Amino acid sequence: MSGNLLAPEWLRVPEDANALAAGVWSRNAIRSADGVIEIAGVAASELAERFGTPLYVVDEDDVRARAAGAKAAFDAAMGAVGTTAKVYYAGKAFLSTAVVRWVAEAGLGVDVASEGELAVALAGGVDPARIGVHGNNKSERQIARAVAAGVGAIVIDSAIEVERVAAAAARAGRVQRVRLRINAGVHASTHEYLATAHEDQKFGVSTADAPGIVAAIRGLPGLEFIGLHSHIGSQIFESGGFAEAARRLLGLHAGLLAGGPVPELNLGGGFGIAYTSADGPKPIAELAEGIAAALAAAASELGVPLPVIAVEPGRSIVGPGGTTLYRVGTVKAVSVSVPDSSAGEPATAVRKYVSVDGGMSDNVRPALYRADYSARIASRVSADHPALVRVVGMHCESGDVVVRDEYLPMDVGPGDLLAVPATGAYGWAMASNYNWVPRPPVVAVRGGEARLIVTGETIDDLLARDPGAPAPGP
Ligand code: LLP
Repeated sequence: MSGNLLAPEWLRVPEDANALAAGVWSRNAIRSADGVIEIAGVAASELAERFGTPLYVVDEDDVRARAAGAKAAFDAAMGAVGTTAKVYYAGKAFLSTAVVRWVAEAGLGVDVASEGELAVALAGGVDPARIGVHGNNKSERQIARAVAAGVGAIVIDSAIEVERVAAAAARAGRVQRVRLRINAGVHASTHEYLATAHEDQKFGVSTADAPGIVAAIRGLPGLEFIGLHSHIGSQIFESGGFAEAARRLLGLHAGLLAGGPVPELNLGGGFGIAYTSADGPKPIAELAEGIAAALAAAASELGVPLPVIAVEPGRSIVGPGGTTLYRVGTVKAVSVSVPDSSAGEPATAVRKYVSVDGGMSDNVRPALYRADYSARIASRVSADHPALVRVVGMHCESGDVVVRDEYLPMDVGPGDLLAVPATGAYGWAMASNYNWVPRPPVVAVRGGEARLIVTGETIDDLLARDPGAPAPGP
């Protein structure tokens, strides 16, 4: 069947618009015999009934397996080149005490980027020595709390912060281990990477300034320098950008060895995932091997031993395990003229707009980054032919898109449940109350059981933050 003229090049007309594309859905998502999508043994229809929609569903075993898989991949790859690995989960992707426990049990540390994330990591019970603290503008209070908690490392992001962290360490009577973030001049996106002398962005210090800052750190009794850090971007499919950053960082690292020990090197996160069937991220084991090979080659060229290698994946741990459930409210067929059609005459094509009960408040990524997602009807199967749809939210702006382009059965309509896969990272984490919409709950599913891991908000919760609103009635 030929595609709709409005469909983007990458989107193929599916043979079966009910099928769950391999690699895009969480590991334990299936279409059960009665046609309903089931995640870890819990039917989407049952979840929607019990918890309402929109609903974030997290496949706990998927997250646990990806955390363990990342650890195993980096342990093996770094072991093969004669060093060891540390894997920190980047909590910004999605943090709750449950997730902290899952990743800690898989042997990961946790990276935090704010005072709030630090509080959740500590509340989740991860060993503070396995917490890393980030931020280009950490507050004094955040630094003091991190030092007092005994975090394993604070990543210093600017020369100004050296004194701040040293002062907090002195006040607490502790020696604080620190890394130094480098602007390595390598920026990677999904398909390619850009390498320049300096990247025009706010994070880190230049390679030229680094030796002086490291000397300053080493001169302060309250600080212990443990190594360099870089993070080159997010949703990266290939190891080339990491390899380039690894080479640059290791060169700088080698030069610092004359002034004292440099036991570690942290290469950040950024490993990509599949949001649609057009995405083909490399398996994490392959990325780890690519990075290890680049490190080994650079180390032997420089004649230095390889340090312990740390990485900080976020999206690749929690992204694929998340699915969002929505209820369809309205549908409409919109005729759109297609200016450059090969027919010669201006053609028209129909795009079916499917409106759901959430939108940019529960997933801002399509609006913010033009991120693509995919969708399926979760409550039934349909034999109707595939129609090009745009799944949109209920917010008051036209950029409120949930899934920009997808083929769903033509009869998709009011009352259907829709499931959007791969929403576990930067979905709930970036949710807002736009249009005074309460943020949905997060439910973890495992072995046929569902439990709340983040409570949803109600309109009363939101009103309670408005001092001018009368207190809710009995
Ligand atoms: N480490 C550092 C220092 C980071 O800044 C980040 C992400 C990570 C690790 C984790 O990266 P990941 O493995 O999740 O790609 N909101 C954007 C992504 C922003 C990522 C910011 N930093 C999105 O939704 O695509």
